[in-house]
This record gives sequence, structure tokens and C-alpha cells, in this order.
Amino acid sequence: MKNVVESLLKKTVGSRRYAEEAAATHVDKSSIAFGATSETKFLSYPFVIESAKGARVRDIDGNEYIDILQGLGANLFGHGPDFVRAAVAEQMEKGFPLGAQTPLVREVAELITELTGMPKVCFSNTGTEAIMTAIRVARAKTGRSKIVIFSDAYHGHVDWVIMRQPLAEFARRRLVEKWRHGRLSAISRFLGKRAVKGAAPASVGIPSSIAKDVIVLPYGSEKSLKVIRSLRSKLAAVLVEPVQSRRPELQPRDFLRVLREITCEGNVGLIFDEMVTGFRIHPGGAQAYFGVEADLVTYSKIAGGGLPLSVLAGRNDFMSYLAPMAGGGRDKTVFFAGTFCKHPLSIAASHAVMSKLKEEGPKLQEGLNQRSALMVKKLNDNLKEEGIPVSFTNFGSFFSIALSESDLTPDDVNYLSCYLQDCGIYLRSGDKGGFLTTAHSDADVKAISKAFLDGLRLIFDNKNSLKK
Ligand SMILES: Cc1ncc(COP(=O)(O)O)c(C=O)c1O
Repeated sequence: MKNVVESLLKKTVGSRRYAEEAAATHVDKSSIAFGATSETKFLSYPFVIESAKGARVRDIDGNEYIDILQGLGANLFGHGPDFVRAAVAEQMEKGFPLGAQTPLVREVAELITELTGMPKVCFSNTGTEAIMTAIRVARAKTGRSKIVIFSDAYHGHVDWVIMRQPLAEFARRRLVEKWRHGRLSAISRFLGKRAVKGAAPASVGIPSSIAKDVIVLPYGSEKSLKVIRSLRSKLAAVLVEPVQSRRPELQPRDFLRVLREITCEGNVGLIFDEMVTGFRIHPGGAQAYFGVEADLVTYSKIAGGGLPLSVLAGRNDFMSYLAPMAGGGRDKTVFFAGTFCKHPLSIAASHAVMSKLKEEGPKLQEGLNQRSALMVKKLNDNLKEEGIPVSFTNFGSFFSIALSESDLTPDDVNYLSCYLQDCGIYLRSGDKGGFLTTAHSDADVKAISKAFLDGLRLIFDNKNSLKK
């Protein structure tokens, strides 16, 4: 197999030296590569990107890449579109007072409510903060504390959402498999219908007491709906990433519709986490795409035009808990604050992006979604023709290998990402895909597809020759 490690180590020597020297003072999370193998672990340092424009980034070693990471999905128009840079430069001139109201805040709120259909919004800085506030609002409104989240979802890093299913659930599943055939099959069938309702912290440093108020269930499953129905009078909220970036092949429209019915029946808050899907799949996000209205929706990424901004949007009866007068006095008001909330530079960038989205209408997303779907279709056709057991999927302009439908190990995925980097495609080690933006040309799309296909061909040629 092509020795991409050697090749990349040579090409990115400046980034490597930078990481080694920075390690003395900087504890850098991005040096932890997903699924690094004994070979690729030597590449566990971030390439130091010195400039970014449109579809391209350039590192300090002078390598230029076609970027499919695109600010972790924050860029719909590529890096630093001129209309955003102009808006930020204009605000920079005027200054950026913190803790003050600035003129564009109201307009941005109006634009977001218009695009998303949610009547009220408030602003914070990160997705994590918006999720934290959404959960707090749902708990305040319902007077209940338990929340449901789903496995494979990512909602940021507030303690309540860094949870996995409890060990007892993994043990139950193992026994169902083990006893499926033979004299214990009746017990296997009995256990198969059960689910362990609970959660366990997925990181050290999170007290297990926090997990008592969280239930982690499998996403998109009938059994999960049953559990939620049975617990509905005890739940404050169900938090859902409508299409999970870790498993985008699962796009469960019917599940979401039934979930909406159950949460309505139980007066449970339905929270859509639309950090990735918001403004990307459609101006109205996954709500518009699936035809399901949530009670609270969180946005970030595209909403900030590349600057830190997150949005909690919601129905009046939920959002009124954030407003002292409408909520019925201080004792009914949810605490919410932040020094950098409504940062004037972020608001200016958001204003530029939201105005552009309004002006262009849904055809902007439709065009980009179609280009992405076509790329994925061509890739899948080629893979099928060549007998490579890998399948791609897309949700709008986010595309990815559908791992559950592909015969790839984590080592293969890690090697593939390094191969792509060596071909001049920018993504994180271990990533299975990325984002197309309006800045990607047809030639870029061709280069991206070719690199994926060539990399996968190499992996499977190697596997097949080892079998012989
Ligand atoms: C679906 C989803 N929710 C929440 C978050 C957390 O957002 P942030 O990283 O801004 O805290 C992310 C971040 O990638 C995300 O993808």
C-alpha cells in the first residue's frame, strides 16, 4: 500500500515541528486522531493552516488542500466569503462593545425567525451553550428533570449529554446474541424485548449522579419510541440530532413524526439539535425537510458565518421562560448569560449570511444538495461496478461513507483519511466525509471523488491480495 505516512511526514514537516514545540505549553485536543493506527499515529498533529479562502486552505509548509472539513460544517459559502468579510470589516470599524445592545441584533433575530419559522430566538456563543440552555428551559417549563438522548448523537460537551448507554444494556445485548439459538432461546427472546433505561457518563470527570436524569436510547428504533411513550409523563425533553453526523445514513422521517406525537401527548419538550443540518439542508433546516415542528431548536455553525455564534430558537410557550416579564416573574425565569453573547462581530457575520439566505431562497440549498447527491450517486455507482463493498450517503451537502453499509474497519477509515490528505484533500484523520459548499467548483468535486475512489481501491486491492 502507498506509504502515505512517510509522504505526509515529509510534506508537513513544519506542522509537525510546530506541534512538538507547542506541546510544552499547549494541551491540544486536535492532536488526538480518531482511530489512529500504530502507523498513522505519527501523523497525530494538526496541519497548521495559515490561510483559508473559498474551497481551499494552505498550511505553513506551503501545501494547498481542497477543504471538505469547511469549519466543521460552519461554511456554506466556503471560507471567508467576500460579503461576510465586508460585513465584519464594517463592524470592526464601528467597534465591538460587549454587554451592550447593538443595532443588528434585532434584524438577525427577525431573519432567523423568518427562515426557520420559530417565533423567538436568543443568542449564545457555542452549540454546547445553546444545548445547555435548551435543556434548562425544557426542565423549567415541564417541572421535570429527566431527558432522553440517543446513542451516536453528538450534542457538545455539557455534562448532561456526554452519556452512553449503561453497561447493563451492553450485557443484555450480548446475552440476546449468545442465547439466540439453543436451550436458552426463550430467555433471549424475553431479553430481546427489554431495554435498560439509563445512562452512564462517557467521560471521566462527570459524576454518575448526573446520569440519573438521562436515558440513552438507540436512535430510530421502534423500541425507543415504546420506552419514551411509557415514560412520557416523567420526561422534560427528548433531545434529537435529526440526522446524526456520525451516522448520516439513518434519516428516520417516520420515527421523528411519531416522536413528535408522543412528546405532544406527554407535554414533553422536543428539542432538535440542528447545528449541522440548520440552514444547510433547507433554510428551515431539518424541521422543514422532515415536516416536523420541534418546541426548541438549536443552531450554530452556518448561523455565525464562520464566527462564534449559536442560537436557541423556540415556541413562545418555551422561550417565555427566558424572558422575565413574559414568564411571570423572576422566580420563573431561566438563568441565562454570557459575556460574549451577541458579540457584534458575530452578529454582523450572521446578518450577512442570513440576509444572503433570505435573498437566495431555498434554491441555494437545493442546488448544493443536488450536486452532493450526484457526487454520492456517481461514487456509489463506481464502487458497485468495481465490487468495492463501500457505500456513501449524503444529507444535503454533508456527505459521508455509510459505515453501517460498508465493509471497512476503523483502521481502513483512518488510512483513507491520511490518503486523502496526501492527495490534497483537507479533513481530520478518521473523518469519513465532509461538506460541499458553494465555493467548490465542479473540478474540486471531481478531485474529491477521485481521491476517495482511488483510496478505497487501494485499500481493497491490498485486502484482496492479502487473502490470496
Ligand atoms: C449536532 C451538534 N450539536 C452540538 C455541537 C456542539 O457545538 P459546539 O462545538 O459549538 O459546542 C456540535 C458540534 O459539532 C454538533 O455537531
